[in-house]
Amino acid sequence: MFHLDTGRLWVCLLLLGFIGFSLPKAEGRSRKPNVVLILTDDQDVAMGGMTPLKKTKELIADQGITFSNAYVASALCCPSRSSILTGRYPHNHHVINNTIEGNCSSKAWQKTQEPYAFPALLHSIGYQTFFAGKYLNQYGSEDSGGVDHVPPGWNYWFALEKNSKYYNYTLSENGKARNHGDNYSLDYLTDVLANVSLDFLNYKSNYQPFFMMISTPAPHSPWIAAPQYEKTFPNVTAPRGGNFNVHGKDKHWLIRQAKSPMSNSSIQFLDNAFRKRWQTLLSVDDLIEKLLKQLEAHGELDNTFIFFTSDNGYHTGQFSLPIDKRQLYEFDLKVPLLVRGPGIQHNQISKSLVANIDLGPTILDIAGYDLNKTQMDGMSFLPLMKNNSNVNWRTDILIEYQGEGLNKSDPACPAMGPGVSQCFPDCVCEDAINNTYACVRTIAAAHDLQYCEFDDLEVFVEVYNLTADPNQLTNIAKTIDKEILEKMNHRLMILQSCYGASCHTPGVFDPRYRFDPQIIFRERGEQAHLLTRKASK
Ligand SMILES: *[C@@H]1O[C@H](CO)[C@@H](O)[C@H](O)[C@H]1NC(C)=O
Ligand SMILES: *[C@@H]1O[C@H](CO)[C@@H](O)[C@H](O)[C@H]1NC(C)=O
Ligand SMILES: *[C@@H]1O[C@H](CO)[C@@H](O)[C@H](O)[C@H]1NC(C)=O
Ligand SMILES: *[C@@H]1O[C@H](CO)[C@@H](O)[C@H](O)[C@H]1NC(C)=O
Ligand SMILES: *[C@@H]1O[C@H](CO)[C@@H](O)[C@H](O)[C@H]1NC(C)=O
Ligand SMILES: *[C@@H]1O[C@H](CO)[C@@H](O)[C@H](O)[C@H]1NC(C)=O
Ligand SMILES: *[C@@H]1O[C@H](CO)[C@@H](O)[C@H](O)[C@H]1NC(C)=O
Ligand SMILES: *[C@@H]1O[C@H](CO)[C@@H](O)[C@H](O)[C@H]1NC(C)=O
Ligand SMILES: *[C@@H]1O[C@H](CO)[C@@H](O)[C@H](O)[C@H]1NC(C)=O
Ligand SMILES: *[C@@H]1O[C@H](CO)[C@@H](O)[C@H](O)[C@H]1NC(C)=O
Ligand SMILES: *[C@@H]1O[C@H](CO)[C@@H](O)[C@H](O)[C@H]1NC(C)=O
Ligand SMILES: *[C@@H]1O[C@H](CO)[C@@H](O)[C@H](O)[C@H]1NC(C)=O
Repeated sequence: MFHLDTGRLWVCLLLLGFIGFSLPKAEGRSRKPNVVLILTDDQDVAMGGMTPLKKTKELIADQGITFSNAYVASALCCPSRSSILTGRYPHNHHVINNTIEGNCSSKAWQKTQEPYAFPALLHSIGYQTFFAGKYLNQYGSEDSGGVDHVPPGWNYWFALEKNSKYYNYTLSENGKARNHGDNYSLDYLTDVLANVSLDFLNYKSNYQPFFMMISTPAPHSPWIAAPQYEKTFPNVTAPRGGNFNVHGKDKHWLIRQAKSPMSNSSIQFLDNAFRKRWQTLLSVDDLIEKLLKQLEAHGELDNTFIFFTSDNGYHTGQFSLPIDKRQLYEFDLKVPLLVRGPGIQHNQISKSLVANIDLGPTILDIAGYDLNKTQMDGMSFLPLMKNNSNVNWRTDILIEYQGEGLNKSDPACPAMGPGVSQCFPDCVCEDAINNTYACVRTIAAAHDLQYCEFDDLEVFVEVYNLTADPNQLTNIAKTIDKEILEKMNHRLMILQSCYGASCHTPGVFDPRYRFDPQIIFRERGEQAHLLTRKASK
């Protein structure tokens, strides 16, 4: 033991203060933590979407926590990204599809939701905020104010006009359009995002914490790999088995209409897509390595939470649907979610049910923002990351999807009627107006269930017991215990009309759950559509 007298302690503190002042690197430690959110586009986790990201696994997953049950509230880019930004379910942020009419980056979104997105709230409490990459699918379009529009709360803004591209695109650089061509060393978007991110770390202030959101085009189509990766994974094909090329004969109309088995040309097409998706992810792996090295060089790594996730999953041949997302099955709804940061132990795996609506609340919680001042549907999972075993966590979430369709100008698929078709190389309809559904996804100690209702002519119901049937091969809607069915139906209606804290009420398999038959809902036949269902007492 040794002791310092008060005089010497003061000298020490002054000296430390002086060093802290002259070396901004060390100053970072007394600040609030920084947060980095890396968001990929269309990256699945169910079919091996994380396999190419070896460095990311070492640098983030092995140093932190992997959530093996992370879901999106809607398996489509714009509704999902809007959920991430607002911490809300689609029925509360009102972004229902990828078009302006469906509120994707619309004026209504800009007025009613964007100012309260979590990055704007972080900015209001002194965070420096940096965005790079794809924002919302209609961002930059004329009807949404063009690239001049910089959403409130962002200090540094490098956003892609519209949907994911790798070359020949326009970026909004703090509101000014900048066009890029197709020279790899100047324009490859994933690398441009890496470079502007490293620049930010060099020129940011060292006296305020920061939030960075880096949103890559990979592995979204058109799947253009960096030249050095064009020949990687030569023999890789989409995984077979499970529900690959299986005819979903007990499922809703859209799945039943798929041609099964698929044609050879469809299979060739999806295998090629699968391989190219992996190749594009290799540049994301490089981005993450560079970013973490730079954080370390600046002495910030230990004080930074790093989140890695995707906006939705993907399918390549599951239930004979060649390629896309938008379906209610695990491959489309489940996403990777890895987090490292101060206080998170290494190599943890959590099976707790978390969702994209939780990212905002979690990040605000990390920053010390009072969540009671927000009205977010999601919940902070920070306590789960700090202590995996001792948290009374939720047991269910809501999934909502509004089918896209009515594309009358699609001459390739006249037989499909109103629907968004994917005609490469065979016409297989991947979406339609009546592919509109809502589900309760439950993961509790003794139950792993999904209950879904469709807003279609059949008022179709799909139920899966994922404990017994992880590939969702058998719809048990007709055989499951009637009492469970009734409770799940009721719970779905409660969640569809929830807002903020009322979205956190106990689920059917939570010991605190109470069935309340007093809550009456309109008959399903009467409602306009599922996303507007309201409860009344
Ligand atoms: C778009 O958002 C506005 C504001 O939230 C809402 O009033 C409107 O109903 C939404 N449109 C659709 C198609 O949901
Ligand atoms: C980029 O645009 C140029 C000019 O239109 C075109 O020649 C080129 O093929 C495009 N490159 C890519 C990768 O699409
Ligand atoms: C691409 O840009 C680099 C760096 O400016 C330049 O050296 C190279 O010549 C360009 N390549 C082409 C094909 O224009
Ligand atoms: C990124 O920066 C590196 C190093 O300065 C440079 O070699 C590379 O060409 C840049 N890439 C892009 C796409 O700007
Ligand atoms: C890929 O398949 C070809 C032909 O079947 C084989 O010759 C080659 O060794 C394989 N390559 C790898 C990397 O496995
Ligand atoms: C499709 O591929 C299978 C297996 O490679 C082959 O046996 C079959 O003849 C092919 N069918 C057509 C129509 O090319
Ligand atoms: C937020 O509200 C909850 C429930 O009313 C309360 O228990 C908690 O103390 C509040 N938190 C803060 C920081 O005020
Ligand atoms: C988590 O909480 C439990 C119960 O309170 C405790 O025994 C354990 O040490 C905690 N673990 C960590 C990593 O804090
Ligand atoms: C998106 O939703 C809006 C509002 O309901 C609708 O008018 C539009 O047709 C939808 N777009 C597609 C592609 O389905
Ligand atoms: C409708 O189909 C046309 C022709 O295939 C296509 O160019 C357009 O992008 C489609 N629109 C939507 C909203 O999917
Ligand atoms: C769904 O829409 C398609 C295209 O309009 C139609 O052919 C089909 O009968 C509808 N099915 C149901 C169950 O609503
Ligand atoms: C789900 O399957 C498991 C394993 O077969 C079984 O124990 C459980 O009772 C099933 N749950 C329901 C609700 O059918």
